[in-house]
Amino acid sequence: MIEQFDKFVSGYDMNNIWIKRKFDHTKRVADLSYKIATELGLSENEINLAYTIGILHDISRFEQVKVYQTFMDSPTFNHGIEAAKLLFDKGLIKNFDVDSREYALIRLAIENHNRYQIEFAKEEREILHSKIIRDADKLDIFYLFTHETAPSPDEFKSSGISKNVATHISEGKLVDNRDVKTRLDYSLKTIGFAYDLYFKSSIEVYLTVYHADLVNSFEPYLNKKDFRLLKEYAEKMAEHLRSIL
Ligand SMILES: [Fe+2]
Repeated sequence: MIEQFDKFVSGYDMNNIWIKRKFDHTKRVADLSYKIATELGLSENEINLAYTIGILHDISRFEQVKVYQTFMDSPTFNHGIEAAKLLFDKGLIKNFDVDSREYALIRLAIENHNRYQIEFAKEEREILHSKIIRDADKLDIFYLFTHETAPSPDEFKSSGISKNVATHISEGKLVDNRDVKTRLDYSLKTIGFAYDLYFKSSIEVYLTVYHADLVNSFEPYLNKKDFRLLKEYAEKMAEHLRSIL
């Protein structure tokens, strides 16, 4: 699987920092998916399937950055849906050693990985693999924010919090992208991904490894008042997460 992925990526310019980051992200997400599936006590077959979904989940990102020089979905395409199209409608999946009986499940999990919530998954296995890839992807997003990508999209207003964001966060819900208008909103949306982790082991990793650093990573990006507010919200979020462990 990994050899086939390496071969796929060799068609792209690894000197491009964004291509390289996506390559590294993909491998870490696949490893995290493998780890989560293993900790859940799944069979070898299911563990390998989780790993496969991890390898394939962002496969459209390479073309996205090559053609559009951005990872933003809104002006380009939904990268989860596009990955599924590339693999299963355009036949890219044939380059990977994958059991064709699993195509439908893999497609669904990939389409679900970046949705606001899991959709169209009815069977237990479909839901489980959608959950695994969503947790693995979010844990690596936390890694990226605390280790690599500076959180600084410029398009947001510099201060304040939007009403819907405040409400969602206070209710322990994910922030909807469409409500994000300010830098504080954006910071809270990112931290709020933790509300959507499904497995206790993922929540534990978030709290012990990422929470404090993630909150602090936004300090240079916010004014003093907003950063204080962010810390207050973040502390409540952490309390909420600890209470469900
Ligand atoms: Fe993704």
